[in-house]
Amino acid sequence: MKRSPGSLAICLLLLLLFLFGILEVIASANRVHENNNNNNNNDSSSLYWSSTAKDEVDLLSKPQAQQEDDSDSDGGFSSLEGMLQWAIGHSDPAKLKETSQDVQRLSPTDLKNRQTELKELMEKLKMPSDAQLMQIALDDLNNSSVSLEDRHRALQELLILVEPIDNANDFNKLGGFAVVIQELNHPDSDIRRIAAWILGTASQNNPVVQRQILELGALAQLIKMVKSSSVEEATKALYAVSALIRSNVAGQELFYAEAGDLMLQDVLSNSSIDIRLRKKAVFLVGDLTECQLENMERAELPFFSSHIFLKSVVDQTASDDLDLQEKALVAIKNLLHLRMADPLVFKEFCGLDCALERMRQQLHNLMSDEVLRDYAMDMESLRGEVELIFRRKLGEVTQVPT
Ligand SMILES: *[C@@H]1O[C@H](CO)[C@@H](O)[C@H](O)[C@H]1NC(C)=O
Ligand SMILES: *[C@@H]1O[C@H](CO)[C@@H](O)[C@H](O)[C@H]1NC(C)=O
Ligand SMILES: *[C@@H]1O[C@H](CO)[C@@H](O)[C@H](O)[C@H]1NC(C)=O
Ligand SMILES: *[C@@H]1O[C@H](CO)[C@@H](O)[C@H](O)[C@H]1NC(C)=O
Repeated sequence: MKRSPGSLAICLLLLLLFLFGILEVIASANRVHENNNNNNNNDSSSLYWSSTAKDEVDLLSKPQAQQEDDSDSDGGFSSLEGMLQWAIGHSDPAKLKETSQDVQRLSPTDLKNRQTELKELMEKLKMPSDAQLMQIALDDLNNSSVSLEDRHRALQELLILVEPIDNANDFNKLGGFAVVIQELNHPDSDIRRIAAWILGTASQNNPVVQRQILELGALAQLIKMVKSSSVEEATKALYAVSALIRSNVAGQELFYAEAGDLMLQDVLSNSSIDIRLRKKAVFLVGDLTECQLENMERAELPFFSSHIFLKSVVDQTASDDLDLQEKALVAIKNLLHLRMADPLVFKEFCGLDCALERMRQQLHNLMSDEVLRDYAMDMESLRGEVELIFRRKLGEVTQVPT
């Protein structure tokens, strides 16, 4: 399994915890050992760290290049040895020398015992797999007594872990989505936000995961969350909705059944709503219409010809934000391609004529800006395409014999 940069971060974090914790772990292992083997082990203080001193000396003389290889090979350390090597590379040489002298004073039996213990320790401290890390995070989430802070941290970890497609596919086997969906009900808005984000990330371009999450009934709740008074929460909820139903006919049917279309219209018809949310909404409109165009046998939804809805999409082109304008143009283009599209509604009710002309002038002005020139030209080409479709449809209408 390929490791993502995210799991690299987790590995490094664990490594640091490990490095800070190792002396303690070894010391306690030592105490246990002492109790069991009081006869053998008389010299108990401070020597376990040094039980690898012999190896350390060898490791220290290894060339730098090899150390770098080790740490790059799997986005972390390939083994405990690799980690120790790294640790040694970063520790005080004088201390190392001292411990290696200490170790020479140990009897062969002691040395052997310590080596055995260290080996057992290495087995125990094997780098956990992503599946194990996901399970640890899930156990925390599924425990009602963990603190808000730990819950938050567990979700942040999952957000990184579910990104690789293999992990996303494994996640449901651990019962993960049910647990994360549960978090959508959490009283803390930030917890709900990250839970939605995880669902969106995992279902992105993944039909299997889309279906799993849809079957667990998360869509209705995510649609409701788009109305949240927290913009951050609303934005991630709409991101998740979009990822869940993208190119997914069954998901889209569920979306309409849950009045997702009205939610979109609410977002688009209110100009005081945060622009990030409006961008996501208009992008989703483009996506839904495109899917409709790819499945011509499906009956076109009345929603796509609602005058108020169409006007709210066309109105997005009045924004100063070019990205929003572009997303709106894509959506309008797709909407115009629908069989039921009525160009007169676009012209008279939505003012598409004026909107296209306003954009033409604005883009023309932008072309004198060296930085924006290429972008403005691409936009103008898209705008011209929309205008052409619009004019052609208008022509068809006027040519219809009476
Ligand atoms: C531990 O070592 C001390 C001397 O350092 C010695 O007197 C004592 O008998 C030893 N105890 C055991 C259990 O070996
Ligand atoms: C749940 O979390 C609490 C507090 O962190 C912990 O003490 C307890 O052991 C956990 N329960 C389970 C079943 O993991
Ligand atoms: C969460 O806990 C419940 C019992 O409280 C258990 O049935 C369920 O399997 C747990 N889920 C996960 C993913 O650990
Ligand atoms: C428009 O959005 C703002 C900000 O989210 C909200 O306060 C207001 O109630 C909304 N207006 C309508 C008519 O929904």
